[in-house]
Amino acid sequence: MDLLENEVELVTELCERLKREKEKTKSKTASLKILDIGCGTGKLAVYLSEETGCAVTGIDPVRATVEKARMKSPSVTFEVQSAEELTFANDTFDFAVSLKALHELPNPREALREVRRVLKERGKIFIVDWVGSVAQTSSHAHAKKYFSPERLKEALSETGFVNLSIKPNKEGELMLVEGEKMSA
Ligand SMILES: C[S@@+](CC[C@H](N)C(=O)[O-])C[C@H]1O[C@@H](n2cnc3c(N)ncnc32)[C@H](O)[C@@H]1O
Repeated sequence: MDLLENEVELVTELCERLKREKEKTKSKTASLKILDIGCGTGKLAVYLSEETGCAVTGIDPVRATVEKARMKSPSVTFEVQSAEELTFANDTFDFAVSLKALHELPNPREALREVRRVLKERGKIFIVDWVGSVAQTSSHAHAKKYFSPERLKEALSETGFVNLSIKPNKEGELMLVEGEKMSA
């Protein structure tokens, strides 16, 4: 796996959470479906496909990136799509995941609403992203886009997710955020 050192802790935790959720559903029929938002060259999607045995689909709007991802694994589906305008039908996925991508989306709230639409009833979202803070945002232009834990919780809550929890990594620079699709 080609995870960066700072990603290992929370991605491993995310994977364990998915395995536990999968165990709870005891799904013996169709494979559970995971959507990776802003998949880039596919490292999270491929890792989760290998570790969980779920059917993983990665989406990213950059065609060249998606083409690189496709070369990594024939078992994962990669599509050129923007998170704000997904082509999937309502209630398609059991889980949505994202690694270091939410802050890069032009319209994160619109994307979260779309993710909610394509998640099944009680589907779960797991986001790993940089932790924004006042100190960073005044000193580092790119970091202005990072969500503070409070802002991310607010965005998820406003877009129809409940049972929210946030776990920072040991260094406090990345966070794993979990939520569940609110019933209609
Ligand atoms: C920092 S990269 C992270 C990529 C990958 N998740 C990883 O960890 O290697 C952020 C990704 O978000 C993607 N992205 C930007 N705008 C997007 C959008 N509207 N919808 C989905 N993904 C988007 C970028 O193309 C890029 O691949």
